[in-house]
Amino acid sequence: MKFFVDTADINEIKDLASTGLLDGVTTNPSLVAASGAKSFIDLIGQICKVVPDGPVSAEVAATDYATMLKEGQHLAKIAKNVAVKVPLTPDGLKVCKALSDAGTMVNVTLCFSAAQAILAAKAGATFISPFVGRLDDIGQDGMQLIRDIVQIYKQYPAIKTEVLVASVRHPVHLVEAAKMGAHVATIPPKVIRQLYAHPLTDKGLAAFVADWAKTGQSILDAA
Ligand code: E4P
Repeated sequence: MKFFVDTADINEIKDLASTGLLDGVTTNPSLVAASGAKSFIDLIGQICKVVPDGPVSAEVAATDYATMLKEGQHLAKIAKNVAVKVPLTPDGLKVCKALSDAGTMVNVTLCFSAAQAILAAKAGATFISPFVGRLDDIGQDGMQLIRDIVQIYKQYPAIKTEVLVASVRHPVHLVEAAKMGAHVATIPPKVIRQLYAHPLTDKGLAAFVADWAKTGQSILDAA
């Protein structure tokens, strides 16, 4: 399963990229606003350099076909690893088709139903982003949507669209998505750090460190 980080904070991205476990980045207009970046275009350029081997999602701002297409073409020129993010609307999917046909990666965002995911695959999306947390927030089962989309896409080997689990709120979302065979999860930095944590790891390590000190040895001295 690929891990993308869901943030526009360049320092967080640098820190997480240093783990060697980061496969890509997703941003959205809200995350860009929160980052305080003065130039969105420069920010995406910087992120693409930090994660040169992974897709970096950059979202269009317009909602009409012609402007979204122009914005998408502009964003795609920033770096070869830009994935243009478009909303799941009729115009958004038209832009998805046009950009995909031209060889640009496209991430279709704001997906809340299996029917929408089928349309995105038909439009040639590289990624479909179902938002699990926001569905949970309104009392629906976000993970059931992931299960449905993975199952539907598996029926059609010609579909190359990857299921990118978005709006991840906690480690259980991620583990469940992995069990279902989702291709990618985009995860907030805080949740990525939570993935490492277990109290028994901390307790066990403290005991090993204390017991090792009793031996009075150093592995490096013996080298
Ligand atoms: C996905 O690409 C979105 O940026 C993101 O996952 C939305 O998450 P939220 O519901 O926590 O805002």
